[in-house]
Amino acid sequence: MVHSTCYTKHHLLISMDKLIVEGGYKLSGTVNISGSKNASLPILAASILTDEPVRISRVPDVSDTNYMIQILSQLGASVERSSGTVRIESPDGISSSASYDQVRKMRASICLLGPIMARMHRCTLPLPGGCVIGDRPVDLHVRAIQALGARVRIKGGNLVMEAPNGLIGTTVDMRGDSGPTVLGTDNLMMAAVLAKGTTIIESAAREPEVVDLANFLNKMGARIEGAGSRTITIHGVEKLHGCEHTVIPDRIEAGTFMVAAAMVSDGLQINRVCRKHIQAMADLLVECGHVVEFDEEGTSVFVKPGERPRSGKILTAPYPGYPTDMQAQMTALFALTPGISVVKDTIFPQRFMHCSELKRMGANIKVDNGTAIITGVEGLSGAPVMASDLRASAALVLAALAAEGTTEIHRLYHIDRGYEMLDEKLMMLGARVQRVLDTDARNIED
Ligand code: EPZ
Repeated sequence: MVHSTCYTKHHLLISMDKLIVEGGYKLSGTVNISGSKNASLPILAASILTDEPVRISRVPDVSDTNYMIQILSQLGASVERSSGTVRIESPDGISSSASYDQVRKMRASICLLGPIMARMHRCTLPLPGGCVIGDRPVDLHVRAIQALGARVRIKGGNLVMEAPNGLIGTTVDMRGDSGPTVLGTDNLMMAAVLAKGTTIIESAAREPEVVDLANFLNKMGARIEGAGSRTITIHGVEKLHGCEHTVIPDRIEAGTFMVAAAMVSDGLQINRVCRKHIQAMADLLVECGHVVEFDEEGTSVFVKPGERPRSGKILTAPYPGYPTDMQAQMTALFALTPGISVVKDTIFPQRFMHCSELKRMGANIKVDNGTAIITGVEGLSGAPVMASDLRASAALVLAALAAEGTTEIHRLYHIDRGYEMLDEKLMMLGARVQRVLDTDARNIED
């Protein structure tokens, strides 16, 4: 689902959708969580590591995965998508250069670096820009591939890498000033699977999406041990083959619905989750007085508001700590929780774009160098607000569901990047939401 675009003579007018939300209607019922966007992106990129077909199921139909599929097609892969299943075949002769026009739309396309280098030993990739949640450096990615023997230069805004003698395994410590890097760990793992010898990744990211990528690569014939721990060992192999894989559930979508359930519901049953992946979010909701009950297998969770909700404290941390991708959504809940709550994002200290919009709805939030202090208020009131980044936009939807009156959320394409059919899923749960064409879309210089 990507918003329609039309080109006028000089301007690209993106017909941006907006979401109109009538607040105050309690959600109820059951929702199924989609496949993980953040597991899908590196796994789609990894498909070019073999010339045999791969089939990936439960890839969510969101803009980010569609962008990745477009880039793979542009590189010369043949990609077929039927609902959640994507079939990719990357024959010999695929290009090693991705275009700026595609890459600029999604900074996660940096995760093509590893697979392209592993397969073709050269890569020209436009440097991804920053984004509203802060500067998004790629120094750790570059340093990792350099350690395997690649030469790097920056030319015309592109990262140009080449390894004429191929990549050679070694030990690389991936820790940065802000802790481990998820896509950096992914890139090094994907570059190492076809390298000569053994690569050891120290200070590796431990996120479930990294583990899912390692599982996918091992199904292709890679020899990876220790994914999910701080040290990952990759024994290089000659060649990889095709495989089939189903991506893990999206733990951030699950967390978003858990917060919605605690904010404005008579109780929601949330299916297709993985308890281990959402334990930190479940623990915080319980600490704040809400009801969270997992089923035996840990694949479904029931959540409803507690009788006496309590304020809370978030210090984001790499997995298995509280995820940075969930602090905005929890801030919307804290805005309506009696007492004073505190949110500190150690990973993206500027990630507070949602706070100014929540304050326009009546929230009482003070943001000061990477920390938000939220004083709960009696109620929020609907207002026209602007989505900014994916998770900030989700926070605005949650606030709108609980607010008094109507909220219009403009620039819905931010939400479409990472939530599959969010408005339809909410409607099924009884929310009064409507997606409409945003007629006052601004002309945007192309
Ligand atoms: C992944 O981004 C996720 N995206 C992000 O989710 C998530 O917020 C982030 O991990 C942290 O968990 C995808 O998986 C597609 P990082 P990634 O490299 O890998 C610094 C969402 O909403 N850093 O783990 O790009 C960086 O600035 C998105 O779905 C360097 O300093 O994030 C940050 O402070 C938003 N140098 C920290 O490391 C580098 O070379 C963690 O970033 C790379 C990163």
